[in-house]
Amino acid sequence: MDKILRIAVDGPSGAGKSTIAKAVAKKLNIDYIDTGAMYRAVGYKMLQKGVALTDIEGLQAMLDDTEIDFSQGNIYLDGEIVNDYIRTPEISKQASDCSAIGIVRKKLVDLQQKMGESKSVIMDGRDIGTVVFPDAEFKFYVTASAEERARRRYEELIAKGQDVTFEQVLTDLNTRDHNDSTREITPLRKADDAIEVDTTDMGIEAVVAHICGLMGL
Ligand code: DC
Repeated sequence: MDKILRIAVDGPSGAGKSTIAKAVAKKLNIDYIDTGAMYRAVGYKMLQKGVALTDIEGLQAMLDDTEIDFSQGNIYLDGEIVNDYIRTPEISKQASDCSAIGIVRKKLVDLQQKMGESKSVIMDGRDIGTVVFPDAEFKFYVTASAEERARRRYEELIAKGQDVTFEQVLTDLNTRDHNDSTREITPLRKADDAIEVDTTDMGIEAVVAHICGLMGL
């Protein structure tokens, strides 16, 4: 591919964004960037270092001293692979909370824009089509019903051996949806020019084929 291609995939938790984005990245042989994992990595580091959500000075110092990168499907926080530490319910909550803080968003949006500067990427998150790449070549807004999204997240957590109930997962998801869509700074919303894809009754392969078809690829 000669031209740099930026594909934005936004939507609420558990809609299938990362599975879809990973599959499309593989198909097109471009990089996949999981921006939710970046907010999770910051949340993880805050808990590790004991930096409170209200300690903006301490948080800024921490952010100034934080490196986040992706390589071969792994997320690196300050040089360490943290994939396995950032998917717990505790980190989900911390990621949602810290993603409402302006200095966290600024740091991560800058980084994300740099990541898509010189190479083709498919990025998933909440504000990719609205803030990170408002001029992305393609924008998708992926949704599914709250029950279906909670069911998917529940199965994922159970497969990882975590001790959770479906009701707990559904409650957490509703809380995060509420936080993510009502926060003051760049709340989750569909970009006006994004194409909405409802995955409630669609399998992953059908969604990937549909999205690639929409892009004419
Ligand atoms: O996609 P995820 O569940 O891994 O995201 C974790 C949290 O980070 C979620 O509560 C929303 C937030 N987030 C965000 O505010 N902006 C993004 N681009 C990606 C995630």
